[in-house]
This record gives sequence, C-alpha cells and structure tokens, in this order.
Amino acid sequence: MLERINQIHDEAVAEIESADTAAALEELRIRHLGRKAELPNLLRGVAQLPPQERGAVGKRANEVRRALEELIESRSAALEATELDARLVTDRVDVTLPGDPPQPVGRLHLITATRREIEDVFIGLGFDVVEGPEVETVFYNFDALNHDPAHPARSRSDTFYVDDDTVLRTHTSPMQIRAMQQWPPPLAIIVPGRVYRPDSDATHTPQFTQIEGLCVDEDITLADLKGVLLAFARAIFGDEREIRLRPHFFPFTEPSVEVDVSCFNCARDGSPCRLCKGSGWIEILGSGMVDPNVFGYVREHGYDPEKVQGFAFGMGVERIAMLKHGVPDLRLFFDNDLRFLEQFG
Ligand code: DAH
Repeated sequence: MLERINQIHDEAVAEIESADTAAALEELRIRHLGRKAELPNLLRGVAQLPPQERGAVGKRANEVRRALEELIESRSAALEATELDARLVTDRVDVTLPGDPPQPVGRLHLITATRREIEDVFIGLGFDVVEGPEVETVFYNFDALNHDPAHPARSRSDTFYVDDDTVLRTHTSPMQIRAMQQWPPPLAIIVPGRVYRPDSDATHTPQFTQIEGLCVDEDITLADLKGVLLAFARAIFGDEREIRLRPHFFPFTEPSVEVDVSCFNCARDGSPCRLCKGSGWIEILGSGMVDPNVFGYVREHGYDPEKVQGFAFGMGVERIAMLKHGVPDLRLFFDNDLRFLEQFG
C-alpha cells in the first residue's frame, strides 16, 4: 500500500513539474486530488485497513496529498506569472503609432491663435489677463460706462436683452468696472472674450471676440496710451509700423480716439492698395483716457478721479486676424470649413 502511495507521488510530481499551462495543471489537480482520484479514495479506505497498517498508510497518504497540493499551488503561481509576462509582450499596444488611418494633428483656430498672440504681447507689457461674464447687467454694460439713458446702443435692435436689466454683453468694456471694484490701483489688465450684437453681414456676426484693455495709475497720460498701443501694433503687424490717433467719441473715455496702423499691405507690391484704399492707414481699435465719470461709479479702493487717471482700449480679434491674414469675409471663421482653417498653422 505504501509503495503504491509513493508511486502515485512520483508520477504526479513528474507530471505537475512538466505541466506548462494553467489548464493542464487544473486537469492534473482533478486527476490526482479530485473526488474520484486514487489517493483520496485510499485515504477514505484507511479505516478498513488492518489496525497495524492504518497509522503508517494514513500518515503517508496525507503527506503525499499535502505535498501535491503545495506543488500544484506553487507551480500554478509560477505558470500564471509567465503567462502574464507572455501576454504583456504579445498584447502590447504602442500608443505612439499613428492611428489607422493616421489622423492629422489638430491646430488652434485662427481666432484662438490670434487672441493668444495678442495676450502674449500685453502680458509682455505687464498686463494681467482677466475674464468676465457674457451675460451682463445693464448697469455694467451701459450705465457704469457712462452711456446716456438715450444712447442708441441700448436699443433692442442693437443689443440682445435677456430681460429689462440683463443683456448679452455688447462689448468687453463692462469688465473695466468689475475689475476696478475688485482690485485697487495701480491696475493693468486685458479682457479677452465673446461679445454679442444683432448684426449679420460680411463684416459683422452676432457673436464675435473682443479684447479690452485698462490701465489705471496716478500719472497715466495719453503718451502712455500711445506708447503701449504702438508697441502692440509693431508686435502684431511688424516693426516698421507707425500708429496715428484720430479724435472720436466713446461714452466712457474722454478724450476718445480711434487708432490707425500704417498700412502693411501697400508696401508689399506698388499696386493700388485694397486694404487701406490708398490712405496708407488702417483702423484697428478704439481707445481713450478713462472718463472721470466712470471712476465715479467705482466706490471701492479709492478710484478718486482727482487722484488716478487711466487709459482704455478695445479691439476686435476677428478684425485683427482678417487684416493680418487677408481674410475677406468674417463668416469664414464660423463656417468650420477645414480647407479654410487649415491654411493657418
Ligand atoms: N467698447 C467699444 C466697442 O465695443 C470699444 C472701445 C472703445 C473700448 C474705446 C474701449 C475704448 O475701452 O476706450 O465698440
């Protein structure tokens, strides 16, 4: 009997050691240790053996059963590890391979790229970038920016009203007031963002993008305004550019100016220039010295019109992009035609 048990042991050990898959190992476990296997049957029959054999046979059979269980256990762990290693190699996904079919890398929309380019220029000049709400109160959009109660921009044909006191902001200028309420002078900020007006043609879309600028300190003059906007114009349109200021009117600046940049198209070929229509100048933005009445709407932080001065400006990002890249129709920016968008890297 003992001999048979040892024989079972030796056979099973040899088979387990040469098993090379988890499935083969499981089959061996059932064959040697399962309910119908010889060894467990032997163990169950120990009670029927003559008393002098029982002890030795029972002990050996139990030893062998435990030994085989342990061996299967450790062999199974080893097999699992090698199978996992093998799977990690065969199933490896190279995430750096191009897709199938390869997808072209995306790029920034020209409006986003232009907005960031302008932001970079002003960050370099010491301005901070802040943003404000697109749904704005009439107070911030018009009243606090010194708009006369009868100003035409307030009309329902020029502005999208949400209710009587709430509009979709028509410009980024309301952030002038919000920023001054939040931070004390000195202040130098730009405010990029979407604005809304009920217009639609080749040069107007109901939604477009503006960048507002505001700089307030104790000794700000028109010369600071001119220096900052000249640096901006040169950074965006080329080092040889000049700017000129033309008198204008905005409710929230006094004096107000429109700013022109010297034409960068004329010089390119001597033909009559389509861009500046022969004048040599192209309008790029509105600007001016902050009207003291505007400071009067800010009660926080001592924006005292007797103490602080400021300049402000506002530009259309789409307009800058159209001028710089010769885009003939504003609506091209919103059509999402890749043949158009892909021209701008
Ligand atoms: N908010 C004006 C507009 O949308 C643009 C503007 C003009 C902004 C002059 C300014 C400014 O800050 O000083 O037409």
